[in-house]
Amino acid sequence: MSVVRFSVSLEKELLKELDRYVKENNFTNRSQGLRHIIERNIVEKKWQCNNIVAGAIVMVYDHHKKDILSKSNEIQHDYHDVILSSQHFHLSHETCLEILAVKGKAKTLTELSDKLIGIKGIKHGKLVMSKAD
Ligand code: NI
Repeated sequence: MSVVRFSVSLEKELLKELDRYVKENNFTNRSQGLRHIIERNIVEKKWQCNNIVAGAIVMVYDHHKKDILSKSNEIQHDYHDVILSSQHFHLSHETCLEILAVKGKAKTLTELSDKLIGIKGIKHGKLVMSKAD
């Protein structure tokens, strides 16, 4: 895909936020950060519907990081009706892999996934969905 250059005007504060986002996600530059934000928003919009879908939420995190487990647990209880199962794998001394099987309205699963992946300290997170009918 060819790349097009364009200039963006942003408030100083917003630019600071962007730089923080780029740093937190280990992106190499602002372009990569912006690309990620745009793609994420477009995908989210696509999944903001009431269709019943099934899928999985995959998360990788360091369980030593403060509050991750309790926050994740709290969120999962709020969405107990769409979580079919959860699996937790201890990948190493500090790293955990958690996989949730989910089924429900696409927008509910997107919301759940955003909340979980948004927990500070989650290293990687991804939601995969397929039509369930
Ligand atoms: Ni673990």
